[in-house]
Amino acid sequence: MNKISVAPMVDRTTKEFRNFFRMFNKSSTLYTEMISAQAIINGDIDRLLKFNDIEHPIALQIATHDKDYAKEAIKIANKYNYDSININAGCPSDRVSNNKMGAYLMSEPELIVSIANEIRKVTDKPITLKHRIGIDGKGILEDDRLMDSYEELLEFVDKVSNNTDINKYIIHARIAILKGLSPSENRTIPPIDYDRVYRLKKERPNLNIEINGGIKTLEEVENHLKYVDSVMIGRQAYDNPMLLNEFNISRYEIIEKLIKYIEENKEVKPYHITMHSLGLFHSTKYSKIWKNVASNSRIESTDLKNFLKELDKE
Ligand SMILES: Cc1cc2nc3c(=O)[nH]c(=O)nc-3n(C[C@H](O)[C@H](O)[C@H](O)COP(=O)(O)O)c2cc1C
Repeated sequence: MNKISVAPMVDRTTKEFRNFFRMFNKSSTLYTEMISAQAIINGDIDRLLKFNDIEHPIALQIATHDKDYAKEAIKIANKYNYDSININAGCPSDRVSNNKMGAYLMSEPELIVSIANEIRKVTDKPITLKHRIGIDGKGILEDDRLMDSYEELLEFVDKVSNNTDINKYIIHARIAILKGLSPSENRTIPPIDYDRVYRLKKERPNLNIEINGGIKTLEEVENHLKYVDSVMIGRQAYDNPMLLNEFNISRYEIIEKLIKYIEENKEVKPYHITMHSLGLFHSTKYSKIWKNVASNSRIESTDLKNFLKELDKE
């Protein structure tokens, strides 16, 4: 499981989700949601960045287009001891692209180089990059630039790797279409092309390459690992978390742990914890009833105890 990571996902990989996940998995790397460098500089940093020791290994993902903001943000984040810093060069949302962040950055590798090198001045932690296999910049980039060939991907990665010490490239094996698709469509419509990622690893064996996009089973993970160093799973890890249950612990025991967590963290609304566990009974006969229980915005730990009594009757 240490060759698998759980993808950064806004509104999903919150601190509460990560603590839930650690109830059954200790070795997969977790990511924060994408946090903009400016939010760190101007925001409530404990709320944005504080995490529990149990969440290690954990990476902080930042979105930025500005090397000075990036450096300032990581200087602030140093207080929290993240295991690595990840730069987002894969998010396709219009809002993010218009701010020259996310997948837009693939059109300006020099900017990524300057951001990474500026971050390096304030941290010794590994810096990693999450990106796509290419971008379609129609309507956003000059000359409606399309970057959709293996050669352009290689040139991009070479420019970054030859000029920074970024040691790991996490590649969502689809291009990002910068205008006209919603982020969710950008996770389904551009076709998946794992071969391009495999070829990159083959031609640049010294780089640490992690593959991402549409991976749903441990068999698929095994297969990818024949060609790349590691695998990142997003939606399936959230929707079917038991896929990554490395302790072989039962759902019953996980709910007992959830109850304990809720009772020990009174400052957190219980719903903000249980809402991230809706997939716990994925594809079992309890799926619907669990979703009803866990998605109640006024849920309390007694509701979980009552649910366990139902499970007991089986
Ligand atoms: C709800 C949601 C939010 C996401 N937020 C982020 C994000 O903050 N940063 C990022 O790099 N990718 C984000 N992604 C993309 C995922 O990290 C991942 O690259 C993508 O879902 C493909 O992997 P999958 O097919 O295993 O889900 C998000 C995806 C989803 C579904």
